[in-house]
Amino acid sequence: MSKTIIVSNRLPISLRHRNGKFEFKPSAGGLATGLGSIYKEGENIWIGWPGNTVDDPEQRAEIIIELHELKMAPVFLSKQDVEEFYEGFSNETLWPAFHYFTQYMVYNPDHWAAYVRVNKMFCEAILKKAGSEDTIWVHDYQLLLLPQMLREALPNATIAFFQHIPFPSYEIIRMIPWRKELLEGITGADLIGFHTYDDMRHFLSAVGRITGLSNESGYIQAENRIINVDSFPMGIDYDKFAKQAKSRKTQNIVKNFRKQVGDQKLLLTIDRLDYSKGIPQRIQVFAQLLEQHPELHGKVSMIMIVVPSRDKVQSYKELKEEIDTLVGRINSDYSTLNWVPIHYFYRGFPFDELSAFYSMADIALVTPLRDGMNLVCKEFVASKTDQTGVLILSEMAGASKELQDALLVNPNDRQGLVDTIFEALSMPVEEQKARISALQESLKTYDIFQWVKVFMDRVEHVKQKQQELN
Ligand code: G6P
Repeated sequence: MSKTIIVSNRLPISLRHRNGKFEFKPSAGGLATGLGSIYKEGENIWIGWPGNTVDDPEQRAEIIIELHELKMAPVFLSKQDVEEFYEGFSNETLWPAFHYFTQYMVYNPDHWAAYVRVNKMFCEAILKKAGSEDTIWVHDYQLLLLPQMLREALPNATIAFFQHIPFPSYEIIRMIPWRKELLEGITGADLIGFHTYDDMRHFLSAVGRITGLSNESGYIQAENRIINVDSFPMGIDYDKFAKQAKSRKTQNIVKNFRKQVGDQKLLLTIDRLDYSKGIPQRIQVFAQLLEQHPELHGKVSMIMIVVPSRDKVQSYKELKEEIDTLVGRINSDYSTLNWVPIHYFYRGFPFDELSAFYSMADIALVTPLRDGMNLVCKEFVASKTDQTGVLILSEMAGASKELQDALLVNPNDRQGLVDTIFEALSMPVEEQKARISALQESLKTYDIFQWVKVFMDRVEHVKQKQQELN
């Protein structure tokens, strides 16, 4: 029997040290939920980093056994791997490049060597489990070399790759000294997926110009096989969000939160700490709104949740300080004894509380400067069970291609954003309902389970096509 192996840099759990012991915290992320229907079946397995360094061989052995029960296998990264592969090449070279933040790119040959080394470690871990009949689905930019490494070891295996972040223009890709190796790494796959048509187009153009492989309608003819490249916009577990928002638990939390903030209008923003999310720019827009509309003072607050992320990377540390300073300035300029303009939380929230924030917010402000997809906007829409509320969404998020009934904005157009927030604050309820209902229809149909199914069906289709051609 053939099996399916899911591979991503992070496993869908995180390992924590507590009182000299380890404990596993399952991830509630969309991908973990969607792929749950795969890796928990039969002999299938998920391979990845448990998110912490463990050096003691005995502890490693214990973790391997415990993870085995959960249908997972760990790839252990040393402190040096974390610094050079994860923080270094993945998040100081690829991440800024792929999000068009070239000013943050680091070109460090040691980081590159670590990237090659760790991709090989992943390959070896997979080869311990995989046979040539198996399907291996590799996820995201931390593992771009892996499809080709696997192809060399298992020429007949079915290998798929999905990139969750944007794929930039050739003009950016050519800045990376190791661009050819990276593109050749990805093209080891049979199926290569992106969130949007534009990402796919950029990829095909870069592959053509850098490796010389041309394509026809998304099919690349490689030396001895065809490779399919396409866009598969990822959805969310719609029912989970809709159900939670309606639950008594969440509605009680909403009542309690409401008592504390009063009856003012609430703008909600939720992001991982990341410069690609445009957090400081958004705070400045909110300040501009307050400056231009004194009538809103005391009537509107922003709830800003920033989830800690990659805080050892210099650009993230600086971003955190910038956000702290800006929030402090605006709150000290405008606060009164019974009104705080920005409620700022630098932490994650449990699901029921998150759902309460979505449920009670009047407006979700999702304004990344660049984002592969963005699921926060989809989660907000799914949580609006009475169809009221307004989604303001950046054109630079992959999700904007699907969510055309949101108020779409250019995040660099500050005055445009101020005016859009003002418009959203006074949008008639009928219009809110019409827009949210339309958004909900598409998100309900194309949820995370459908995304997994469509992708897996396509993998099978490509394999069949390859066989027909041989
Ligand atoms: C993005 C990436 C993922 C990554 C996640 C969290 O969504 O596409 O690959 O896992 O951010 O970032 P982290 O660095 O904490 O894994």
